[in-house]
Amino acid sequence: MSTEGQLKLEWAREHMPVCNLISERFRSEKPFKGLRISMALHVEAKTGILALILKEGGADVSLASCNPLSSDDSVVSALRNNHGIDVHAKKGIDEDTYYKYLNTVLDRKPHLVIDDGGDLVKMLHTNRTDASVNVLGGNEETTTGIVRLRAMEKDGILKFPMFDVNDAMMKHLFDNRYGTGQSTLDGFMHATNLLIAGKKIVVAGYGYCGRGIAMRMRGMGGIVTVTEIDPVKAVEAVMDGYTVARMNDAIRDADIVVTATGMKDVVSYDDMLVARNGIVLCNSGHFNNEISVSELNKRAIWKGEVRSEVRRYKLDNGNTVNVISDGRLVNLASGQGHPVEIMDMSFAIQALSAEYMAKHHAEMQPRVHQIPAVIDDSVARIKLESLKLKLDSLSESQVDYMNSWGEGT
Ligand code: NAD
Ligand code: ADE
Repeated sequence: MSTEGQLKLEWAREHMPVCNLISERFRSEKPFKGLRISMALHVEAKTGILALILKEGGADVSLASCNPLSSDDSVVSALRNNHGIDVHAKKGIDEDTYYKYLNTVLDRKPHLVIDDGGDLVKMLHTNRTDASVNVLGGNEETTTGIVRLRAMEKDGILKFPMFDVNDAMMKHLFDNRYGTGQSTLDGFMHATNLLIAGKKIVVAGYGYCGRGIAMRMRGMGGIVTVTEIDPVKAVEAVMDGYTVARMNDAIRDADIVVTATGMKDVVSYDDMLVARNGIVLCNSGHFNNEISVSELNKRAIWKGEVRSEVRRYKLDNGNTVNVISDGRLVNLASGQGHPVEIMDMSFAIQALSAEYMAKHHAEMQPRVHQIPAVIDDSVARIKLESLKLKLDSLSESQVDYMNSWGEGT
C-alpha cells in the first residue's frame, strides 16, 4: 500500500464532483469496454483520478508523463501499487527515459490516445507508426499540442481524428487562465520563497495563461508589464491596466520574468545581458525553450544550484540570472499543478470527449475537431449543480421575443 500518494488521490477525488458524477455513469455503462487508452499527461493526483475514472469505465489504461519534471512519484506509486494502473513516470528523468516511457505506453497498441503537448501523437506519425494500427482517435489537452496537430493536419498527414480539448470553453477559460494564474504563483513561491508584492514582473504573452498570471501577480502586489506580438492582445493588456513593452526594454528593470507564449526564445541571451543583476526567470508555457536555457548553458561563465529548484548563471558581464526548474513549466515542475477544482472541469471534458470519440470515431474525419457544445454545456451544468447554484431559464414569450424582430419602443 502506497500511503502518501493514495491520500493525495483521495483528497483530489473528494474535490472533483464533476468527474465523480461522470464516473458513476461510466461504472454502470462501461463506455470503454475492450478499449486500450494510452495517455501522456502530467502524472500527478488529478491526472490519477482521470486514469481511474477511465478504468472504471472499462478501459485498459496506460499512463506516461508528458514532461520529465512534472511527475509526483508518490502518486505514481499509488496508481501502480494500489490501483493496478500501468504507469511509467518519475520526476527528474532524462530525455532517453522520457521517450522510453512514451514508447512503452505506445507498445500497448492503443485504441484511444490522450496527449498533452503532442509528443505521443507525433511519435504515432513518425518513429512509432507500428503502434497506430488500432488508433481510433484521441484528445489533445494543451495549446502547444493543438498548434502541432494543426500543422500536421495542414500537411495532410494526420491519420485519425483528434479532439481539441484545449479550446473547449470549460477548459481554457478556467484552466489556462485561473489555473495557470494560481499554480504559477504556487510554483514560483515554492521554488524561491520570495515576496511578490512590490516586485517588477514581466509577463510574456497575454493569451489565456498570460492574462491569468498577470492578474494573480498583480493581485499579490506585483507591478506587472506585459510583452506581446499580437496588437489586439497588447491593447487588451493596456485596457486591463498593464504597461506593454518589448522584452528587451521591459527586462532591464524587471525583478521577475514569467513566460507563457508557446513560442521559443522569448527571453533570449541578449535579453539576459541587459537584465538586472539577480533577475529570476521562469516559464509556464508547455516547452522549456521559451527562456533560451540552452544558450545560457553554452555561454554563461559559471552555473550552480542555489536552491533545490533554482539554478544561478553568471554571465560574462558579471551579472547573475536565476532560472527556476531549468525553464520547464514552473507550476508543475516546482508546484502542484492546477488547483483540483480546475482540473475537475478539464478532465471532465477529457473523459466525455474520450467517450464521444469511442462512440463516434467512425463518423469523424482525420482532422482536429472542436469539442461538441453539448459536452461543454453538460460540464458547466454539473459544475453549477455541485456549487448548488441555479440558473434562470427563458419563458416561452422570451424565446418568441428572441426569435422575432423585436418589439421596439
Ligand atoms: P494563447 O495562444 O492563448 O496565448 C499565447 C500568447 O503569446 C498569444 O497572445 C501570442 O500572441 C503571445 N506570443 C507569442 N509569441 C510571443 C512572443 N515572442 N512574445 C510575447 N508574446 C508572444 O496560449 P495559452 O493558452 O495562453 O498557452 C500558452 C502556453 O502555455 C502554451 O505553450 C500552452 O500549451 C501552455 N499551457 C501551460 C499550462 C500550464 O499548466 N503551465 C496550462 C495551459 C497551457
Ligand atoms: N495537472 C495535470 N495536468 C495538468 C495540466 N495540463 N496543467 C496543469 N496542471 C495539471
